[in-house]
Amino acid sequence: MRIGLLTGGGDCPGLNAAIRAVVRVATTTGDEIIGFHRGWRGVVEGDSGMLTTAETKGILQSGGTILRTARYHPDEHEGGTAAVLSTLERDRLDALIVVGGDGTLGSANQLAHLGVPIVGIPKTIDNDVSGTTRCIGFDTAVATAADAIDRVHTTGESHDRLMVVEVMGRTTGWLAVSAGIAAGADAICLPEEITDLDALAKAIRERHDTGSSSSIVVVAEGAHFLGAIERRSDSMGTLVSTELATRTGFETRLTVLGHVQRGGAPTAADRLLATTFGVAAVEAVHGRSYNSMVCVLNEQTELTSLDAVAKGPRPVPDALLDIARRLTVN
Ligand code: F6P
Repeated sequence: MRIGLLTGGGDCPGLNAAIRAVVRVATTTGDEIIGFHRGWRGVVEGDSGMLTTAETKGILQSGGTILRTARYHPDEHEGGTAAVLSTLERDRLDALIVVGGDGTLGSANQLAHLGVPIVGIPKTIDNDVSGTTRCIGFDTAVATAADAIDRVHTTGESHDRLMVVEVMGRTTGWLAVSAGIAAGADAICLPEEITDLDALAKAIRERHDTGSSSSIVVVAEGAHFLGAIERRSDSMGTLVSTELATRTGFETRLTVLGHVQRGGAPTAADRLLATTFGVAAVEAVHGRSYNSMVCVLNEQTELTSLDAVAKGPRPVPDALLDIARRLTVN
């Protein structure tokens, strides 16, 4: 078979491991893999190249994506969808394997409904693609953010400071809650909940009145706050650190982790997940199980409908929010 492969949306650690697995498994069964550059843009523009095992040597451990990536949706560009269809015909492709988050897989789902044979692989450090409990890149991002929060912890303690750490997550707080719990944050502000900054400042003051001399507050970039405060144009980290400094009177510092969370070598768990997903996606293509997405459900690798992504981002479940509540002051 001739199979197209692309990585779209924000990059994350583990994309190369998925590419490597797809190419290795597919080529050993006689398939040809055509890699499209910069996500859907490469399909629209016909920018591609053949991928062999030689090109995927030594990439298992590397961050980023050898195919490059872009936030690009064919239907948002005039003639984009028609261009996808003509590239698939020109390259005589039997199927497409699309590695992406909800944006890239959302476009894949639209095209699948037009008859394009597609299998999706979910990836995002946000871990919020509906239809799967795990996405490639999340485990590494949690490890990176937790390590950074640990480091902020020791400097905060040394200076008796209130340390605010902003992590990624525009619509869901998977990364904030997971890294926050793993690194022992004292408060976590999330998109799933509304934080009352007055109450949080009071709780932090009480912590310091009862023996603590420093605190760590983890803030998701899309966290919500009570009142009109979040309509300010600042980042949520800036807002929280400014407001908490004023309300507590404590010396406060802000660390914004930003794209550091998307870089670096994937953890062993992400390499394993990406490899498992890559192999499962090739199997799905061989079985003509199109309009589907490989996923993890109940700890098992499964195949689900690509329609699952249309549900929108998957929020952090109450059970995990509850654990965070029990271990923090908010
Ligand atoms: O979707 C993943 C993500 O890392 C989000 O957590 C973050 O809000 C966004 O991408 C940042 O996107 P960009 O790379 O366009 O700055």
